[in-house]
Amino acid sequence: MFNARNQGLCYAVIRNINYSASMDLEGKDALSVIIVGASGDLARKKLLPALFSLYSQGFMPDRFHVFGFARSAMSHEEFRARVGEHLTCRYVPEHDCERKMAEFLSRCHYVQGSYDSPDSFMDLYQTMKPLELGRAHRLYYLAIPPSIFVDVARAMGRAGLVTCTPGKTWSRVIIEKPFGSDRESSDRMAHELAQAFPERDIYRIDHYLGKEIIQNLLVLRFANTIFEPLWNGRCIEQVQITWKENIGIGSRAGYFDEYGIIRDVIQNHMMQILSLVAMERPATLNAQAIRDAKLDVLKHIPPLRLEDLVVGQYRRNGKNPSYNEEDGVPRDSVTPSYAAMALRVDHARWQGVPFLIRAGKGLNARCNEIRIRFRPATSNLFSGALSSLPANQLVIRVQPDEAVALKVVSKVPGLKLTLAETELDLRYATAFNVVIPEAYEGLILDAIRGEKSLFIRSDELAAAWDIFTPVLHELEQRRIKPEPYDFGSEGPAAAGDLAARHGVEWL
Ligand code: NDP
Ligand code: BG6
Repeated sequence: MFNARNQGLCYAVIRNINYSASMDLEGKDALSVIIVGASGDLARKKLLPALFSLYSQGFMPDRFHVFGFARSAMSHEEFRARVGEHLTCRYVPEHDCERKMAEFLSRCHYVQGSYDSPDSFMDLYQTMKPLELGRAHRLYYLAIPPSIFVDVARAMGRAGLVTCTPGKTWSRVIIEKPFGSDRESSDRMAHELAQAFPERDIYRIDHYLGKEIIQNLLVLRFANTIFEPLWNGRCIEQVQITWKENIGIGSRAGYFDEYGIIRDVIQNHMMQILSLVAMERPATLNAQAIRDAKLDVLKHIPPLRLEDLVVGQYRRNGKNPSYNEEDGVPRDSVTPSYAAMALRVDHARWQGVPFLIRAGKGLNARCNEIRIRFRPATSNLFSGALSSLPANQLVIRVQPDEAVALKVVSKVPGLKLTLAETELDLRYATAFNVVIPEAYEGLILDAIRGEKSLFIRSDELAAAWDIFTPVLHELEQRRIKPEPYDFGSEGPAAAGDLAARHGVEWL
């Protein structure tokens, strides 16, 4: 097995150089992280544990505090007790864990208020101010449904919370997807948010960009010489990106039924992955260059056509309910819980290469992977040993169990010439002797450091909506019924026909 420990260290050094170049928080400064929607799922399960991880690794300044804000009534103590339930000591020795958690929790505070009320945000200000003496920076995290982003931004603006002294202090806001539900609503939201926050201070998060293996895509492509010469339609036959969850929509019907799988994961997470796979080499590693290169890919993808799309909806299988039996879903809902599609990147590099994407809930596994299949060898020197040589395949497994594998043909040891398909296999769990950070840890740290390369720029967002807006409108206006598929299956059979129409099959 390939051991990548040393390579891992070099990569860490590259990241550090980048970070320090854009660092604008000094150790003596105060940092307030304000989580709006602190009573919610994301805050409890992801954001507060990520902040604790950063704190316990010494990334936070001495005068660091967390302020939870939401409508639910809670005392500081009740908030701390809820936060404590989800903290784990991934970076702290066991004997020191309890002390570190208590220290972190003592820095957590809670303010109850209404999202559209400037007075409520003034209450928040009154709670923060005594702890923010001297130079103080603020990071707002809007962990709330997007439908109330604008109300919150307006109320914060009216309360005078969105102020900073250029060059001295900053106020930044992280917003969670979905950013609108089509091109028009996304533009409207962008326009309204811009009234409260300048684009410079808006950080649109896509947590897939914070996943380790997604960050490794650039390194894999551009720090190794072996891939780039092959990274084009002459050598690559097809690219597939698969995203599966083996659970249904659970308690998220209110959100999911309005959005569906295309808006939930494809327009954002999958398109970001696709653009990193397909982009040209950026001029530098700075945020502008990387985002320009991703934007260029998105702009070269023609709008998805209905004939290149299959939508599905899971149906009852044993104890697992149908999508439209889930609590809160209308019985006649036509919202897709699955979609498979074939996209093209109209770029000389990618001529003739289908990009197949499929994503769904209620499938047979939880997994996200990218498969790049190379064209098969044209002549077979070994036809006596294997009648047709399997094509090479690069498999990048995002989750679970992060890995990069290259499928190659090898000789099976023995006195006869027998060939078999084998794998060069880089598994993160065994190759790197490090704790793999959660996506939110790196992204929150980047926002604190003003590093935007892993956040979505407004033009990227617009270009991604342009790919899907026409087909989403068509699906909705014609109320096109999704193909049913059994909960726990591979998805609808029609996805296989779609791949076949593009001359390939699902890998
Ligand atoms: P929740 O549904 O848990 O909402 C967060 C909080 O917002 C709630 O605790 C509630 O607080 C308040 N809230 C909920 N609905 C409304 C409403 N209709 N009007 C006013 N306030 C409301 O959301 P999540 O925490 O799951 O997600 C927050 C954001 O993060 C969303 O944009 C979501 O798409 C995104 N996201 C979530 C992920 C996750 O894993 N949960 C993953 C990726 C993105 P209170 O009633 O106390 O005010
Ligand atoms: C979110 C989607 O963005 O990503 C969810 O809204 C999905 O539907 C989640 O479950 C998956 O995130 P992860 O990190 O668990 O793959």
